[in-house]
Amino acid sequence: MFANRVIIRGFASSASSLAPKVAVVGAAGGIGQPLSLLLKLNPHVGRLALYDLVNTPGVGADLSHINTQAVVKGYKGADQLEVALKDADIIVVPAGVPRKPGMTRDDLFKINAGIVKGIAEAAVKVAPKAHILVISNPVNSTVPIVAEVFKKAKIFDPRRIYGVTTLDVVRASTFVTTIKGGNPTKTPVHVIGGHSGVTIIPLLSQTGINFTKEEVDALTHRIQFGGDEVVEAKGGLGSATLSMAHAGARFTDSLLRALAGAEGIVEPSYVYSEVGAKHGVEYFATNVELGYSIGVSLRVCT
Ligand code: NAI
Repeated sequence: MFANRVIIRGFASSASSLAPKVAVVGAAGGIGQPLSLLLKLNPHVGRLALYDLVNTPGVGADLSHINTQAVVKGYKGADQLEVALKDADIIVVPAGVPRKPGMTRDDLFKINAGIVKGIAEAAVKVAPKAHILVISNPVNSTVPIVAEVFKKAKIFDPRRIYGVTTLDVVRASTFVTTIKGGNPTKTPVHVIGGHSGVTIIPLLSQTGINFTKEEVDALTHRIQFGGDEVVEAKGGLGSATLSMAHAGARFTDSLLRALAGAEGIVEPSYVYSEVGAKHGVEYFATNVELGYSIGVSLRVCT
């Protein structure tokens, strides 16, 4: 049903006419710090607000010395959340606890659900038009939580809420070319479904590459459980941070370019889907075409 489909996200309007403001929530964490670095290097970012419960003044001061145009400011503690998010065009959320060996993403739900809900409530108040990019796991649940907060405030716009599943396609390209050869940056692999174990469904048959059944089984498993490799290798010190920072920066860059008027930008994302909702699956990871196009509503094409 979803295999060849691209959801088109036309933005109704941007949050502000100033240089784009990107806020990173959880900016002092394992993902947050390298992600903030990559965003500081991004020429499309005008203002970079770094929020965390700890250490953001230091991270902000450090990054602010890099001679790129983004103006960086660190915000620390719950009383600075709203000022950090105020009028943001994009809010990227890698806040919360990561997995330890033996944990599934669902084990994080109890803690991260509350964190994400609080951030969404603040966004509703001070940045109702922001695009929210949810990295905090379990993405399959944290994205609907953010959506529910916006629905409660009666300002839910599915074009503005994204679960960041980019790491799944990044891993898929790497793992496929590791065994089949080729350039991983030029070997896209579509991944659909969700962002947790067996809900991650790579569409290897669409790559145009011939695989044996054994290769399909092994690659599918590795793409679905690639995160576990990192969790185990880090031995209790967290989950993927550097590769996730790259993936988060890539998605943010795509969105910024689309907001600046670029067309034809396609990224995978875990989003609310009208087509899915008709089949009982409201949220689904699929390719999403990002585009700035006033008045265009969410639609799905084959
Ligand atoms: P981390 O523990 O290194 O950093 C998390 C940061 O969030 C910390 O600095 C912490 O102080 C901050 N934080 C906690 N509560 C907060 C709140 N209420 N407001 C603002 N900041 C808050 O964790 P890491 O490794 O950076 O992972 C973050 C999240 O990203 C985890 O939930 C992890 O599971 C998820 N993740 C998602 C991936 C994806 O593909 N979407 C891939 C890898 C990790």
